[in-house]
Amino acid sequence: MKSPFDLIKNYWVDLLFVAVSVALARYPEVPRFLSFINGFLISFLVWFSLVRYSFENTPVFSLHNSYKYLAYTSTIAGTLIIRLVSRELGGHVAPFFLPIALISMLISKEFALRIAVFLSVLYAYSTGFSMVDFGFALASSVVTAISTHDVSRRLDLARSAIFVSIISGIFFVFQSLLIGKPLNVIILGSTLIAPLIWSIVTVGILPYVEYASMIYSNIDLMELGNLNNPLLKNLSLKAPGTYYHSTIVANLAEAAAQKIGANAVLTRVASYFHDIGKAKRPYFYTENIGDDDLNPHDEIAPKLSHLIIQDHVKTGLEMAKKHRLPLLIQDVIPQHHGTRVQKYFYHKSKGAGEKLSESEFQYSGPKPQFKEAGIIMLADSVEAAVRSLKKPTPSRLKNLVQEIVFSIYNEGELDESGLTLRDLEIIIEEFTKVLVSMMKSRIEYP
Ligand SMILES: [Fe+2]
Ligand SMILES: [Fe+2]
Repeated sequence: MKSPFDLIKNYWVDLLFVAVSVALARYPEVPRFLSFINGFLISFLVWFSLVRYSFENTPVFSLHNSYKYLAYTSTIAGTLIIRLVSRELGGHVAPFFLPIALISMLISKEFALRIAVFLSVLYAYSTGFSMVDFGFALASSVVTAISTHDVSRRLDLARSAIFVSIISGIFFVFQSLLIGKPLNVIILGSTLIAPLIWSIVTVGILPYVEYASMIYSNIDLMELGNLNNPLLKNLSLKAPGTYYHSTIVANLAEAAAQKIGANAVLTRVASYFHDIGKAKRPYFYTENIGDDDLNPHDEIAPKLSHLIIQDHVKTGLEMAKKHRLPLLIQDVIPQHHGTRVQKYFYHKSKGAGEKLSESEFQYSGPKPQFKEAGIIMLADSVEAAVRSLKKPTPSRLKNLVQEIVFSIYNEGELDESGLTLRDLEIIIEEFTKVLVSMMKSRIEYP
């Protein structure tokens, strides 16, 4: 049995966070002590049972603390702005849309739904626990969380805002009928317009939040994947083979991510950037070595070859950090090779009679930590292997894909990625489908 002291020691950040949120929900009023304690207890129970618990169960929170900081700051800033607007202009125009849409687009729909309940409870506390106000807040924030999570264009966000506006309007009319209040057309009009205005504010704030947190929404990930990006342009000029390889990896990985319900936009854009480090010494990578070119690895020791090749991970990560690429894209750079061994150079070294162990030819990791990174690791190896397949047929392609996926799985590289065996089966199917349609002209049918 834990003592109250343990509770305070383990959860003091949450206790303080909820206390500040409850105080802000009534700002600038100073509530009576007992009323504050009542609001605090209810809010803390909701926070603890719904939100705090999900920190341990939502993968992104264990990847980077920035996700937690983003969750705390958007909730607290959301509480304050909802309070200020509702106090001055009325609860029907309160900006529930703003914090919930940000959290849904930047963290996850599930987490945004939890925060929607928490913010609605705080809002209800600010209105003396009115069920009518709680219902309105909950309806508009739950619809916001659901409708904004897979937004990948600004236009989609405008559509979500229209949807939220309609639902809020319907709820407002229903509640007016429920409590027998005459319908005020001006208030109804402002209820309908408010989500549209808050969606414009959300679009305006988004780039600043993304730059500061390095957590990107799909809207700006799409923009980052634009091939005019300086890092990608540099790669296409200095290492055209790698650039081409990255676009094929993106096609394969995106299709698979879509099918298993991972983030397809993140997967596509991270694939574009996974090998940006190869722009430094492009001529050392097979995809940039022409048939008539001399292979520089013929002239150097296998261990040195390994070190040069491995350097694209370190260089890529430095470039990504310098350009403040999204955290998850930075993660993909070392994770797409995980802790795999460069077998080719290991065997070359062994063949030359050197006594180096396998670990001398190992990438430094970490292993893929999330599904999208795991898919990119698989697509990367599949693309490289398919390139050298002499006479591709659909069944040969499938066998090759299967062989690569299961050998990476058996090496244990996917252990921390969250990919299941069922996911791997779907990935194999999707990779094969994309390869068959891409290689149509090369495929020989019996
Ligand atoms: Fe690579
Ligand atoms: Fe690659």
